[in-house]
Amino acid sequence: MTLPNLNHFHSVMAFEAQVAQYLYCLFLCKLEPESSLYPALLALPASIIGECQWMASVIYEAFTHPISFRWSSHEYALDLGKQTGMNCKKEEEMEALFPPLFTGDLPICKDPFVIVDSTGMVLMWQLPSLLCWSRQMAMFCAALSLNPLMRTSGKPQVPGKCGSWRNDPAYFKAPSGQYKVTPGVLNFSPAWFQLGHQGPASSLGVSATLNAKARLLGTDQWLNDTIHSTAIVNAILRVIHPRLYAYGRRGREALLADGMDMNWLSIYTGAAVISNRETPVHRDTQCWVGWYDLLVSAGPYRYAEMVLPSIGIRTPDLPGTLSALSGHTLPHGVSEADGERVCYAFFMRHKVSQRLGLRLAEPMMADHYLRARRSV
Ligand SMILES: [Fe+2]
Repeated sequence: MTLPNLNHFHSVMAFEAQVAQYLYCLFLCKLEPESSLYPALLALPASIIGECQWMASVIYEAFTHPISFRWSSHEYALDLGKQTGMNCKKEEEMEALFPPLFTGDLPICKDPFVIVDSTGMVLMWQLPSLLCWSRQMAMFCAALSLNPLMRTSGKPQVPGKCGSWRNDPAYFKAPSGQYKVTPGVLNFSPAWFQLGHQGPASSLGVSATLNAKARLLGTDQWLNDTIHSTAIVNAILRVIHPRLYAYGRRGREALLADGMDMNWLSIYTGAAVISNRETPVHRDTQCWVGWYDLLVSAGPYRYAEMVLPSIGIRTPDLPGTLSALSGHTLPHGVSEADGERVCYAFFMRHKVSQRLGLRLAEPMMADHYLRARRSV
């Protein structure tokens, strides 16, 4: 296990802050081109400036192409309860109460979009090919360091004979020499409750994938190899959900003040690396209404597709696509890719953040930028 170089960690945090501010101002300029908000060129490498300009364009395209529906997320959540998306009868009831926009042969939405509810809450940003080829391939290649852990990631041997679809081998490509990243799923968290102990006074520890042995086996290498990409992902959240970003930063600061001794840069409290798995339609019960789980698809493949049945649409999940979605309110699934696909899924557990003493972040509202433009 190698202890992180704190100077390096703080310099990457400063890089993240610069990228976040630059990207945010670029986006606001697109919303209000006549304004004088155009950001000063910071001391960022030309390649990063190019990435930011592309990303600001995609984010702007999404924001200006909303898919609106007539129901309120809070009312929907009250009827939904703790459903996982796997109870067909309950899902049929929900569909009858809150009909999707389309049924039958669902249309494919290829362009960037946001999904907005009747109260103006932004429940999803779909940002196809947001990350450039080199960025997403860097994230894919970094996952190679996790192969020793992926091989022992606890997939049961018999399809269907497990507690959760998430590690059911029926959904993974068969392990073989043709895949660079071993099919499997690993969950990481620098602040993790022990099983069955999630109370306000329960202690937090690192996940097994971040213990000393796992770090030697590959986790430290993976954290180091993804640190700049994680900074970019954090900066994107700064634009698409500023309140959740600020909230996550406070959580990261709390962990640093508590002596966190690894290069965990994500402002999320956890991440999963999912290699070569298709994903059946499901809901993520722990995603707070109005917050986003953040999914990044990476790898040498040409096509996969996400389905959003409660809206009634499909959307391509191409390499470099970033989907930020309220994963409990919006059931979602992803088809098998026609090549190698690794998904980085970042998630925020509100109980962890509450344990760290933080007040919950408000949801993202579509009128947020009206107020933001006045204050920049
Ligand atoms: Fe999910």
